[in-house]
Amino acid sequence: MRVNINKLTFGYTQKLIINDLSFSLASGDFLTIVGKNGSGKSTFIRCLLKLVKIPNSMIYLDDIDINDIKYFRNIGYVPQKDNFNYEFPITVSEILTSFYVKKKDELFETIVNRLELTKIMNENINNLSGGQIQRIFIARALLTKPKLLILDEPTVGVDVENMKAVYQILKELKNEKITIILISHDLKFVDGLTDYYLFLDDSLSYSFKKAGEK
Ligand SMILES: Nc1ncnc2c1ncn2[C@@H]1O[C@H](COP(=O)(O)OP(=O)(O)OP(=O)(O)O)[C@@H](O)[C@H]1O
Ligand SMILES: [Mg+2]
Repeated sequence: MRVNINKLTFGYTQKLIINDLSFSLASGDFLTIVGKNGSGKSTFIRCLLKLVKIPNSMIYLDDIDINDIKYFRNIGYVPQKDNFNYEFPITVSEILTSFYVKKKDELFETIVNRLELTKIMNENINNLSGGQIQRIFIARALLTKPKLLILDEPTVGVDVENMKAVYQILKELKNEKITIILISHDLKFVDGLTDYYLFLDDSLSYSFKKAGEK
Protein backbone atom coordinates (compact mmCIF):
# COMPACT_ATOMS: atom_id res chain seq x y z
CA MET A 1 0.00 0.00 0.00
CA ARG A 2 1.26 3.49 -0.87
CA VAL A 3 1.25 6.07 1.90
CA ASN A 4 1.37 9.82 1.31
CA ILE A 5 1.62 12.28 4.13
CA ASN A 6 0.99 15.82 2.94
CA LYS A 7 1.68 18.68 5.38
CA LEU A 8 0.07 16.82 8.25
CA THR A 9 -0.55 19.09 11.21
CA PHE A 10 -2.30 17.91 14.36
CA GLY A 11 -2.75 18.77 18.03
CA TYR A 12 -5.17 17.41 20.62
CA THR A 13 -5.77 20.90 21.93
CA GLN A 14 -4.29 24.24 20.93
CA LYS A 15 -0.82 22.78 21.33
CA LEU A 16 0.52 21.19 18.17
CA ILE A 17 2.00 17.69 18.35
CA ILE A 18 2.70 17.23 14.65
CA ASN A 19 3.57 20.19 12.46
CA ASP A 20 3.79 20.19 8.68
CA LEU A 21 4.91 16.59 8.25
CA SER A 22 5.31 15.29 4.69
CA PHE A 23 6.74 12.09 3.24
CA SER A 24 5.78 9.20 0.97
CA LEU A 25 6.14 5.45 1.07
CA ALA A 26 5.80 3.04 -1.84
CA SER A 27 4.35 -0.45 -1.50
CA GLY A 28 6.78 -2.66 0.35
CA ASP A 29 8.68 0.17 2.00
CA PHE A 30 9.63 -0.26 5.63
CA LEU A 31 9.60 2.86 7.80
CA THR A 32 10.89 3.09 11.34
CA ILE A 33 9.65 5.98 13.48
CA VAL A 34 12.02 7.09 16.18
CA GLY A 35 11.64 9.79 18.81
CA LYS A 36 11.59 10.53 22.51
CA ASN A 37 8.61 9.73 24.73
CA GLY A 38 5.89 12.24 23.99
CA SER A 39 7.30 13.32 20.61
CA GLY A 40 4.10 12.27 18.83
CA LYS A 41 4.86 8.83 17.41
CA SER A 42 1.65 7.17 18.57
CA THR A 43 -0.27 10.32 17.72
CA PHE A 44 0.95 10.08 14.14
CA ILE A 45 -0.33 6.50 13.99
CA ARG A 46 -3.67 7.64 15.40
CA CYS A 47 -3.95 10.17 12.58
CA LEU A 48 -3.10 7.49 10.03
CA LEU A 49 -5.71 5.10 11.43
CA LYS A 50 -8.40 7.79 11.64
CA LEU A 51 -8.60 7.37 15.40
CA VAL A 52 -8.50 11.17 15.56
CA LYS A 53 -10.05 13.62 13.14
CA ILE A 54 -7.75 15.43 10.73
CA PRO A 55 -8.55 17.86 7.89
CA ASN A 56 -8.85 16.61 4.31
CA SER A 57 -5.87 16.24 1.96
CA MET A 58 -3.29 15.41 4.61
CA ILE A 59 -3.10 11.61 4.43
CA TYR A 60 -3.58 9.41 1.38
CA LEU A 61 -3.54 5.61 1.21
CA ASP A 62 -3.15 4.29 -2.34
CA ASP A 63 -3.91 7.85 -3.47
CA ILE A 64 -7.25 8.02 -1.63
CA ASP A 65 -7.76 10.66 1.04
CA ILE A 66 -8.33 8.70 4.26
CA ASN A 67 -11.30 10.95 5.04
CA ASP A 68 -12.96 9.42 1.96
CA ILE A 69 -12.34 5.82 3.09
CA LYS A 70 -15.35 4.39 4.88
CA TYR A 71 -13.96 1.03 5.95
CA PHE A 72 -10.29 0.42 6.47
CA ARG A 73 -9.28 -2.82 4.80
CA ASN A 74 -5.97 -4.61 4.75
CA ILE A 75 -4.47 -2.54 7.51
CA GLY A 76 -2.97 -4.46 10.40
CA TYR A 77 -2.30 -2.62 13.64
CA VAL A 78 -0.39 -3.71 16.70
CA PRO A 79 -1.11 -1.12 19.40
CA GLN A 80 1.37 0.05 21.98
CA LYS A 81 1.13 -2.35 24.87
CA ASP A 82 0.29 0.03 27.66
CA ASN A 83 -2.73 1.34 25.75
CA PHE A 84 -4.56 -1.91 26.10
CA ASN A 85 -6.89 -3.00 28.88
CA TYR A 86 -6.16 -6.63 29.78
CA GLU A 87 -8.88 -6.97 32.34
CA PHE A 88 -11.71 -8.29 30.25
CA PRO A 89 -12.23 -12.05 30.13
CA ILE A 90 -11.34 -13.36 26.70
CA THR A 91 -9.12 -16.21 25.58
CA VAL A 92 -6.31 -16.07 23.08
CA SER A 93 -8.29 -18.22 20.68
CA GLU A 94 -11.27 -15.87 20.94
CA ILE A 95 -9.14 -12.82 20.24
CA LEU A 96 -7.60 -14.37 17.17
CA THR A 97 -10.76 -15.86 15.71
CA SER A 98 -12.95 -12.84 16.37
CA PHE A 99 -10.90 -11.04 13.74
CA TYR A 100 -10.75 -13.93 11.43
CA VAL A 101 -13.58 -16.15 10.33
CA LYS A 102 -12.02 -19.24 8.84
CA LYS A 103 -10.54 -20.76 11.91
CA LYS A 104 -8.00 -23.30 10.87
CA ASP A 105 -6.64 -22.60 7.43
CA GLU A 106 -2.99 -22.68 6.55
CA LEU A 107 -2.34 -19.00 7.20
CA PHE A 108 -3.86 -19.26 10.66
CA GLU A 109 -1.78 -22.32 11.55
CA THR A 110 1.40 -20.78 10.18
CA ILE A 111 1.03 -17.55 12.11
CA VAL A 112 0.03 -19.29 15.35
CA ASN A 113 2.98 -21.65 15.08
CA ARG A 114 5.49 -19.00 14.15
CA LEU A 115 4.52 -16.86 17.11
CA GLU A 116 4.40 -19.91 19.39
CA LEU A 117 0.84 -19.39 20.48
CA THR A 118 -0.32 -23.01 20.21
CA LYS A 119 0.14 -23.80 23.90
CA ILE A 120 -1.67 -20.72 25.16
CA MET A 121 -4.66 -20.73 22.81
CA ASN A 122 -7.18 -21.46 25.57
CA GLU A 123 -5.67 -19.24 28.22
CA ASN A 124 -7.45 -16.16 29.40
CA ILE A 125 -5.46 -13.11 28.38
CA ASN A 126 -5.27 -11.67 31.87
CA ASN A 127 -3.13 -14.68 32.86
CA LEU A 128 -0.50 -13.95 30.25
CA SER A 129 2.78 -12.09 30.29
CA GLY A 130 3.30 -8.82 28.43
CA GLY A 131 5.44 -10.53 25.80
CA GLN A 132 2.81 -13.19 25.19
CA ILE A 133 0.11 -10.57 24.76
CA GLN A 134 2.31 -8.67 22.37
CA ARG A 135 2.71 -11.79 20.22
CA ILE A 136 -1.06 -12.29 20.17
CA PHE A 137 -1.55 -8.78 18.84
CA ILE A 138 1.07 -9.31 16.19
CA ALA A 139 -0.71 -12.51 15.15
CA ARG A 140 -4.06 -10.74 15.05
CA ALA A 141 -2.65 -8.01 12.82
CA LEU A 142 -1.12 -10.57 10.46
CA LEU A 143 -4.39 -12.49 10.17
CA THR A 144 -6.01 -9.50 8.49
CA LYS A 145 -3.62 -10.09 5.54
CA PRO A 146 -2.48 -6.51 5.70
CA LYS A 147 -1.15 -4.43 2.82
CA LEU A 148 -0.11 -1.92 5.42
CA LEU A 149 1.12 -3.14 8.79
CA ILE A 150 1.58 -0.70 11.64
CA LEU A 151 3.36 -1.75 14.80
CA ASP A 152 3.73 0.53 17.81
CA GLU A 153 6.75 -0.68 19.81
CA PRO A 154 6.07 -4.37 19.14
CA THR A 155 9.25 -5.70 20.69
CA VAL A 156 8.88 -4.17 24.14
CA GLY A 157 8.78 -7.03 26.63
CA VAL A 158 9.36 -9.72 24.02
CA ASP A 159 12.25 -12.14 24.72
CA VAL A 160 15.19 -12.75 22.40
CA GLU A 161 13.82 -15.92 20.80
CA ASN A 162 10.52 -14.31 19.98
CA MET A 163 12.22 -11.13 18.81
CA LYS A 164 13.95 -13.31 16.24
CA ALA A 165 10.62 -14.79 15.18
CA VAL A 166 9.11 -11.31 14.83
CA TYR A 167 12.16 -10.12 12.89
CA GLN A 168 11.88 -13.06 10.51
CA ILE A 169 8.16 -12.52 9.97
CA LEU A 170 8.67 -8.83 9.24
CA LYS A 171 11.43 -9.68 6.80
CA GLU A 172 9.12 -12.05 4.92
CA LEU A 173 6.27 -9.52 4.86
CA LYS A 174 8.63 -6.94 3.43
CA ASN A 175 9.54 -9.35 0.64
CA GLU A 176 5.82 -9.74 -0.05
CA LYS A 177 5.62 -5.97 -0.74
CA ILE A 178 3.66 -5.18 2.39
CA THR A 179 4.26 -1.65 3.61
CA ILE A 180 5.39 -1.62 7.21
CA ILE A 181 5.50 1.25 9.67
CA LEU A 182 7.17 0.41 12.92
CA ILE A 183 7.71 2.54 15.98
CA SER A 184 10.73 1.41 17.90
CA HIS A 185 13.43 2.62 20.24
CA ASP A 186 15.42 -0.45 19.26
CA LEU A 187 17.55 0.64 16.33
CA LYS A 188 19.50 -2.59 16.38
CA PHE A 189 16.31 -4.55 15.80
CA VAL A 190 15.32 -2.61 12.67
CA ASP A 191 18.79 -2.50 11.16
CA GLY A 192 18.59 -4.69 8.06
CA LEU A 193 14.82 -4.29 7.87
CA THR A 194 14.13 -0.61 7.53
CA ASP A 195 14.31 1.45 4.32
CA TYR A 196 13.55 4.81 5.96
CA TYR A 197 13.69 6.49 9.31
CA LEU A 198 11.37 9.22 10.52
CA PHE A 199 12.92 11.05 13.46
CA LEU A 200 10.38 13.06 15.44
CA ASP A 201 11.55 15.81 17.69
CA ASP A 202 9.61 17.25 20.61
CA SER A 203 10.30 20.72 19.25
CA LEU A 204 7.98 19.76 16.34
CA SER A 205 10.68 19.35 13.74
CA TYR A 206 11.32 16.08 12.01
CA SER A 207 13.65 14.40 9.56
CA PHE A 208 12.86 11.68 7.08
CA LYS A 209 15.92 9.76 5.92
CA LYS A 210 16.79 6.78 3.81
CA ALA A 211 18.55 4.05 5.79
CA GLY A 212 22.30 4.39 5.48
CA GLU A 213 22.20 8.14 4.85
CA LYS A 214 23.84 10.39 7.41
N1 LIG B 1 -5.67 11.81 24.03
C1 LIG B 1 -4.80 12.79 24.26
N2 LIG B 1 -5.22 14.03 24.62
C2 LIG B 1 -4.36 15.05 24.85
N3 LIG B 1 -3.02 14.93 24.73
C3 LIG B 1 -2.53 13.72 24.39
C4 LIG B 1 -3.40 12.59 24.14
N4 LIG B 1 -2.62 11.53 23.79
C5 LIG B 1 -1.35 11.98 23.83
N5 LIG B 1 -1.28 13.28 24.19
C6 LIG B 1 -0.07 14.10 24.29
O1 LIG B 1 0.51 14.16 22.98
C7 LIG B 1 1.93 14.10 23.05
C8 LIG B 1 2.42 12.98 22.17
O2 LIG B 1 2.00 11.73 22.69
P1 LIG B 1 2.28 10.36 21.96
O3 LIG B 1 1.57 9.31 22.70
O4 LIG B 1 1.98 10.52 20.51
O5 LIG B 1 3.86 10.23 22.14
P2 LIG B 1 4.84 9.03 21.77
O6 LIG B 1 5.91 9.61 20.91
O7 LIG B 1 4.06 7.90 21.22
O8 LIG B 1 5.46 8.66 23.18
P3 LIG B 1 5.92 7.24 23.79
O9 LIG B 1 7.33 7.01 23.34
O10 LIG B 1 5.86 7.48 25.27
O11 LIG B 1 4.95 6.19 23.35
C9 LIG B 1 2.26 13.93 24.53
O12 LIG B 1 2.61 15.20 25.02
C10 LIG B 1 0.98 13.44 25.15
O13 LIG B 1 0.86 13.87 26.47
MG1 LIG C 1 3.71 5.96 21.86
